[in-house]
Order: sequence, then structure tokens, then C-alpha cells
Amino acid sequence: MYLYGASGHGKVIKEILDAQHKTVDGFVDDNPGVERQCGLPVLHSLDHVDEVIVSIGANSVRKRIVEKLTCRFAVAVHPSAVCSLSATIGEGTVVMAGAIINAESVIGNHCIVNTGSSIDHECVIGNYVHISPHVTLCGNVRVGEGSWIGAGSTIIPGVRIGRWCVVGAGSVVTKDIPDGYLAAGNGCELIKKIQEDLL
Ligand SMILES: CC(C)(COP(=O)(O)OP(=O)(O)OC[C@H]1O[C@@H](n2cnc3c(N)ncnc32)[C@H](O)[C@@H]1OP(=O)(O)O)[C@@H](O)C(=O)NCCC(=O)NCCS
Repeated sequence: MYLYGASGHGKVIKEILDAQHKTVDGFVDDNPGVERQCGLPVLHSLDHVDEVIVSIGANSVRKRIVEKLTCRFAVAVHPSAVCSLSATIGEGTVVMAGAIINAESVIGNHCIVNTGSSIDHECVIGNYVHISPHVTLCGNVRVGEGSWIGAGSTIIPGVRIGRWCVVGAGSVVTKDIPDGYLAAGNGCELIKKIQEDLL
């Protein structure tokens, strides 16, 4: 198994896979100047690579890379994460230390469920979403494809967050957010329309 993206995010995923006793053979990176990461070789082509997690934090870049790959995608779940047996976790997704995913939540493909975040019952998380460290999603929250929920934010029950949104760190979201907006604050308000490549 290889990690595509010799990044800091890749280092965290490597350690999750170590904790799961899964073998990481190396990294893949488009930058020919990077030759080693975490003591492992960095490849610059996908020859002989059969299984990958794309270890790039930026949601739009992660999506672009996934879409050009034809290999299998693995899942990484830290042993200290608590995932309900009735929850589902899509391919390529990583669940970091201390995260909690509760009953019947559905987590899409190539998502990041970051350290200590909590996703309560029946949430639906689209593909390429990043739930940052210590976010709390209450029950029945929906987060659309590619959205990034900033660290420490709280989303109250039943809120719908659109596709390719950003929620600023520390926000308290009490109302739905339409597609493609940056919203922030305690009493979260729409701030501006954003470009997908901010993510
Ligand atoms: C939202 C964010 C991405 C900045 O986006 P940006 O497009 O560069 O936006 P700006 O910094 O220009 O801010 C735009 C406005 O939103 C406000 N704003 C930005 N982030 C905010 C936040 N977290 N809470 C409240 N207001 C915020 C700014 O004060 C600014 O207001 P102003 O126009 O009145 O001055 C950044 O502030 C943020 O919260 N990042 C999350 C980081 C994180 O969680 N990382 C986890 C990595 S694992």
C-alpha cells in the first residue's frame, strides 16, 4: 500500500496504518525532488502500485488526483477511533485518533475525519469532505461534497451544509449553508462566495 502525497497529512496517515499493523511500502509524490518520507521511498510513478490512500489535505487537489487513479483505495481508521457498526465509511477515507462516528452515519469516499472529531447519529458526509480536529456534528447533519469544516466548529442537529463550502474554525452553525460559501462565527453567517480551489 502507498500513500499519494508526501505531506504532513501523509505522515499522520502513515502512523495510523502503523497502529493498525498495516504495511506502508512507500509514498508517491509528483515532486521529483522528494525522495524519502518517514524513512520510506517516494515513487514518482504509479507502476506496480496497487492500493493507495491519497494523503493530501486540500479537498479539491485530493479529488483531482483520485480521479486520475485506477488503483484500489484503502481506508485507514486509528484504533482509538470509535466507529458504530451501523455506520459506513467510504473508500480512501481516513479516520484519525479519537474520532467518534455514531449510529447509521454515512461517510463518503476520500474524506478526512480528523483528530478528536465527533459525528453523531445519521449524519451524511459527502465525498472529499474534511471534518477538522475537534469538530462536533450533532445528529442528522449533512455535509456536501468537498466541504471543509474548520477546527473546533459545532454544527447543530439537522443542519445542511452545501457542496464545496468552508466553515471557519470555531464556528457554531445553526442554519443551512448553500453550496460554495465561506461561513464563519458563533452565530455563523455567510461571509462570501468562494472558489473551489480555496479548499
Ligand atoms: C476561513 C479561513 C479558511 C479563512 O478563509 P479566507 O478566504 O482566507 O478568509 P479571510 O481570512 O479573508 O476572512 C474573511 C472574513 O472572514 C472572517 N473569518 C475568517 N475565519 C473566521 C473564523 N474562523 N471565525 C470568524 N470569522 C472568520 C475574517 O475575520 C474576515 O472578516 P472581515 O472581512 O470582516 O475582515 C480560516 O480563517 C479558517 O478558519 N481556517 C480553518 C483552519 C482549520 O480549521 N484548519 C484545520 C486543519 S487540520
